[in-house]
Amino acid sequence: SVPKSLEINGVSYQSDPNFTNVTESILNLTDRSLHLNESHPIGILRNIIEHRFNSLPGSHFATFNHFKPIVTKWQNFDSLGFPKDHPGRSVSDTYYINGETLLRTHTSAHEQECFHSIKENNEEAFLISADVYRRDEIDRTHYPVFHQMEGAHLWGRSSEELHHLEKSIKELEQLLKNYTTKIVVKEADPFDDSTRQPYMTNKEALLCEAHLKRSLELIVAEVFSKKIESMKLKKSTEIPDSLQVRWVTTTFPWTTPSWEIEVWWNNDWLEICGCGVVKEQVLRNAGYKADSKIGWAFGLGLDRIAMLLFEIPDIRLLWTKDERFHKQFKKGEITTFKPYSKYPGTLRDVAFWLPDTSEKFKEIHENDIMEIVRNIAGDLVESVKLTDEFLHPKTHRKSLCYRINYQSMDRNITNAEINDLQNKVNHELVSKYGVELR
Ligand code: PHE
Repeated sequence: SVPKSLEINGVSYQSDPNFTNVTESILNLTDRSLHLNESHPIGILRNIIEHRFNSLPGSHFATFNHFKPIVTKWQNFDSLGFPKDHPGRSVSDTYYINGETLLRTHTSAHEQECFHSIKENNEEAFLISADVYRRDEIDRTHYPVFHQMEGAHLWGRSSEELHHLEKSIKELEQLLKNYTTKIVVKEADPFDDSTRQPYMTNKEALLCEAHLKRSLELIVAEVFSKKIESMKLKKSTEIPDSLQVRWVTTTFPWTTPSWEIEVWWNNDWLEICGCGVVKEQVLRNAGYKADSKIGWAFGLGLDRIAMLLFEIPDIRLLWTKDERFHKQFKKGEITTFKPYSKYPGTLRDVAFWLPDTSEKFKEIHENDIMEIVRNIAGDLVESVKLTDEFLHPKTHRKSLCYRINYQSMDRNITNAEINDLQNKVNHELVSKYGVELR
């Protein structure tokens, strides 16, 4: 049964038995903010895209990366014109705190406040990155939390501004030609003219569409050509010689016309982003004068792209706190994930005095230790590290301590097994190198 009230990040919310369906385990993920971690795949990808947008000549995108995940039903649905009976509103699809509050299902929930904010600051564009929540199936590529980046760009309608818009499209087309991997674009089927908004001229509609499409193609080119370059460096086998992208028409309640962009990767069309020309009502709700602006918006899914760029086989890995995952990624770099064991490791130390060099034994090289362990434990050892080195002030004898991590890639190892391996290692060190165990 549902408790009367829920305490989330220091705020107390009244629950509602007809709506409340958030769970403790979901709420525990609300303060992870993986997108803010610049050396996490999600944060690395966010940085690459933000940087590409904000280095376009003549555009500046105000960036909002700190919105909290709890929003009102109005922000998530009503402000965007979702019909009352839209399936996305149902308790089977969305995590509700109560009848009025929920975990945002998309970053579009913040479009209103961002449009309002850029209006107040005389800016023309914004980017939002955040974690979003949906009740969904469970498999390798689905997780109840994922990340989106929302973007939008507006223009006034004076001939001067339209001229500027036209010029930016030319610049985008030019930038697209600079990538070494050619991108091949398949256009969507021509759409019904009635999806155009009557307040816009035909020319304005076409300019918005072209700027939107070229901008997103540029992001795809930037991200995927980075991947292709890193594949070339590693002399990977199946390097695509061109990048195939296609546009598909679709509908969203707050944009018209609307599209999705898909990228051909690993023999499949990967759907990465929904977008469209912003409906005038949305801008009016945000405080713009009627019919004063035209522009576009998009919402891009970060997790699937990150998985493919970094070759992360299971979406749950993005949420792990395991150091063996995190130490593999660095800010600004697209590296390839190397799988590690999901079974726990067991650490054992071996400390010993080296024999007197006057004796028949020579000093031991680190690699000799490695070889002994490798010979005895084989693939049951994950790592061997020197953890201590000590020179006795009087006897001048040297002592070393090595830490062995016993860990299998595919099973649990018993304690008895580890004891046995460790005894053999100790024994071998003594008999082969004449060390004195401490
Ligand atoms: N919010 C939409 C989604 O999650 C994507 C979108 C954003 C579409 C902005 C149009 C404009 O699918």
